[in-house]
Amino acid sequence: MLLKNKHILLGITGGIAAYKCAHLVRLLIKEGASVKVVMTKAAEEFVTPKTLSVLSKQEVVADFFDSNHNWNNHVTLAEWADLMIIAPLTANTLAKLATGVCDNIVTACYLSARAKVFVAPAMDLDMFQHPTTKRNLETLHLDGLRIIPAEHGELASGLMGEGRMAEPETIVEFIKKQLQADLPLLGKKVLINAGPTYEAIDPVRFIGNRSSGKMGVCIADAFARLGADVTLVLGPSNQMPSEKSVSIKRIESAEEMLAVCEPLFAECDIAILSAAVADYKPKTVSNSKIKKKESDFSIELIKTVDVLEQLGKHKKHQLLVGFALETDHLIDYAKEKISRKNLDFIIANSATEEGSGFGVDTNKITIIDKHNKLNQFELKSKQEVAEDIVSFTLNYLKFSHA
Ligand code: CTP
Repeated sequence: MLLKNKHILLGITGGIAAYKCAHLVRLLIKEGASVKVVMTKAAEEFVTPKTLSVLSKQEVVADFFDSNHNWNNHVTLAEWADLMIIAPLTANTLAKLATGVCDNIVTACYLSARAKVFVAPAMDLDMFQHPTTKRNLETLHLDGLRIIPAEHGELASGLMGEGRMAEPETIVEFIKKQLQADLPLLGKKVLINAGPTYEAIDPVRFIGNRSSGKMGVCIADAFARLGADVTLVLGPSNQMPSEKSVSIKRIESAEEMLAVCEPLFAECDIAILSAAVADYKPKTVSNSKIKKKESDFSIELIKTVDVLEQLGKHKKHQLLVGFALETDHLIDYAKEKISRKNLDFIIANSATEEGSGFGVDTNKITIIDKHNKLNQFELKSKQEVAEDIVSFTLNYLKFSHA
């Protein structure tokens, strides 16, 4: 499941272990991944592009130009990749990656790749133990690359020791384990709502509020980045998530918000309701534009539905989280909402404190759990606040299932 439909760019460099890459391609394809191979000239001495092309069912790229002098665009190849594997990683390519030398298609793809990169070092014992190699591997580690440990065993030179490339099965298992650890919320369904609601007065006017929806959109992105299956129910807002996997449902009024959220809530594991849902709406909505008169004009307002409270009434296994935006008595009012709305915890933020609330790119939150324990956070960007909320949620889940 972890590698299914993933685009994997396999960079092969010139070491004897390159022959094992034929088997590696087969294993990756068996996992449901699409594999494209790029290789250095030296790698062609150990495994043929034809073998790899037949196994991967894709053209293999071995140079910046093909035999018809067409340019092989390394940037397009790198952008295609969800992850890149460089195996075997020779001492020579290791040094190039550590210093940014890019004189072949593999190193050029590496420098252009924004995807996660895994490397499987393979070299002879003395090369592997050389301080330069150790230093270069440390540089790669600091650069965020995932290093698949070399194994102990008989080496091509006949020496025994560390330096053998990990077996293809081990490489696949290592990658799957790492992806699993990077995506602790894989398979979890998360419902987020965000933005204001608009309550119609007539076809051209409405009652709304100043919420931008940014906080909720950042939370949706932060959950999606950890592998969750996120649905964002978004009111009138021009903010959009950057994570492509987030599914967006647009609504306008409080009533529509409830209608869309209710069935999603029944199916979800975690729901975070950050929307600034209107508390009141006009009692009647005029079908035609209301004309200006000489006299003053008043609108009778009635209560809207409280979306969060309604979901709280049907809560079963779900973790339910609300927001509290207040101008005063922030903590006391927030605590009262935890029990009234049947929440696991609430995220309190001030509408008046500098850098907090609507229309700014920062926020300062206090998370209060249902045992009234307060967790205060510093003023941060809304992206960072979203990361804090996700970490808190992960810990909360761990603790409540312990
Ligand atoms: N909320 C909701 N539906 C409403 C009003 C609020 O779902 N009609 C949710 C918000 O999304 C938020 C939480 O309830 O998660 C608290 O919203 P807030 O406006 O702070 O509180 P209210 O319950 O509306 O009470 P008050 O406005 O009096 O503070």
